Amino acid sequence: MDLVLDGNGPRYMQLVRALKQAIASGRLPGGTRLPASRDLARDLVVSRTTVVAAFDQLRAEGLLTGRVGSGSYVNAPASPTQRPPVARRSVLPQSAYSRRARELHDPDDLSGRRLPGMRHAFQYALPLVNAALNTAWLRELGRAAPYVRPNYPMPQGLPSLREAICKHVTRTRGLQCTPQDILVVSGAQQAISLAARVLVDPGDDVVIEEPQYFGARTILQMHGANLIGVPVDAEGLRTDRLPNRPAKLVCLTPSHHFPTGAVLSLSRRIDVLQYARQCAGWILEDDYDGEFRQDAQPVPALQSIDRDGRVLYVGSFSKTLFPSMRLGYIVMPSGLHDDFLAAKWAADFGTPALEQAALAQLITTGAYERHLRAASKRLVERRHALCDAIVRQCGARVTLRPSHAGMHVLAEVTGLSAAEGVQLIRHARERGLGLYPATNCYLDPPDRCELLMGYGAMSTRDVREAVTLFAACLDSWALRAHGPALRLAHSR
Ligand SMILES: Cc1ncc(COP(=O)(O)O)c(C=O)c1O
Repeated sequence: MDLVLDGNGPRYMQLVRALKQAIASGRLPGGTRLPASRDLARDLVVSRTTVVAAFDQLRAEGLLTGRVGSGSYVNAPASPTQRPPVARRSVLPQSAYSRRARELHDPDDLSGRRLPGMRHAFQYALPLVNAALNTAWLRELGRAAPYVRPNYPMPQGLPSLREAICKHVTRTRGLQCTPQDILVVSGAQQAISLAARVLVDPGDDVVIEEPQYFGARTILQMHGANLIGVPVDAEGLRTDRLPNRPAKLVCLTPSHHFPTGAVLSLSRRIDVLQYARQCAGWILEDDYDGEFRQDAQPVPALQSIDRDGRVLYVGSFSKTLFPSMRLGYIVMPSGLHDDFLAAKWAADFGTPALEQAALAQLITTGAYERHLRAASKRLVERRHALCDAIVRQCGARVTLRPSHAGMHVLAEVTGLSAAEGVQLIRHARERGLGLYPATNCYLDPPDRCELLMGYGAMSTRDVREAVTLFAACLDSWALRAHGPALRLAHSR
């Protein structure tokens, strides 16, 4: 079979991309039977596990049907050339919301996406690949399918999943809740969106961390919130810089600040809870990757010490499992239950039931925790490989913000302005390395070159190779931009 692996990242994903290309180009039309995994593995000189994991992924995405052992068939959608072109008319924004959305959302923004032809990419938000997890997920989907009722699911979420999440978060994150407090949503992004609808009117003051998670910022701006950026240091949000006037909402990533990695200290946790109480406002705790605390015990959630019911805790399975699943949850403060349920009902009548049922089983059977343990171990190896290689190969040219959790680090290229950073990123892309600026994480970006370096989906070998390429790019860029003198100064 004529498939070329592009050499980028895990083999399994290389094969997924090669097969997708062959399907999209029509070389593998719908109905084609793929070779047996053993034969394909032999042809491509990869392991059979790689082929099985790639087939599993394509099956999960609906591009293949059939099972390993009984043959896999291409389930191709109509090729793009067969579809009639979509007529696009330009229309003025029809509401204040869509005017803001047009200003804020760039559908062509490639800053966070993988670009073709790169050997390595430090891309944020790609999940860790675990073939055992893929298999367990498919098994649970298959088991759940016959039992899922065909009518609308409960908008709040399946009771079995709410119960499983409740048990899990009370035990592992110290949360205070019952299954009645859990609202199942389509990822943290929907949780933040519902929170904006329920809590924020256009013009309301909302405190966000500076820097912050761009997804949350954009949602709030689209809703017309007046954002107040409060700086973050090594202990998290600078609570001494909270505004004097009352804010309606404070958005935080206290367990692992995005993107710097700082953990909010206990005294500041108490300060921010007190601020919310004084304002009669709310705190959105985005615990996007708090379960991956690798070098130390997980920090209990802020919600666990909230005595006033002011914290909405948001959890997501995008980092711990995979983002395509689109599953997350809100632990709702009791005073907001009805408002959130109404907003969720209005948004979509509820999250797809099949995935919820499968996830409930994955958690209940212990497979989720087994995966968390294995993934945490691998992530710590990858983070150490990244930090060690950067210290060794880049020396004083790159400063890393200390981070003990998650799947990314924030790095600063010493002495480079933001504009030089853009040139460096372009230079690296020409050499097959994907680097991503952290500019988009600021309301008011500083004039320095900061990079958001994701490592979750890279093996330790890939991480080391990518850092070697990064160091070479720093060398060649400095040489090209400033001549040999600067290169020598830098590498000293
Ligand atoms: C800090 C942070 N919060 C929330 C999200 C959104 O997660 P989800 O995929 O659950 O919508 C992300 C995604 O990368 C994130 O980095």
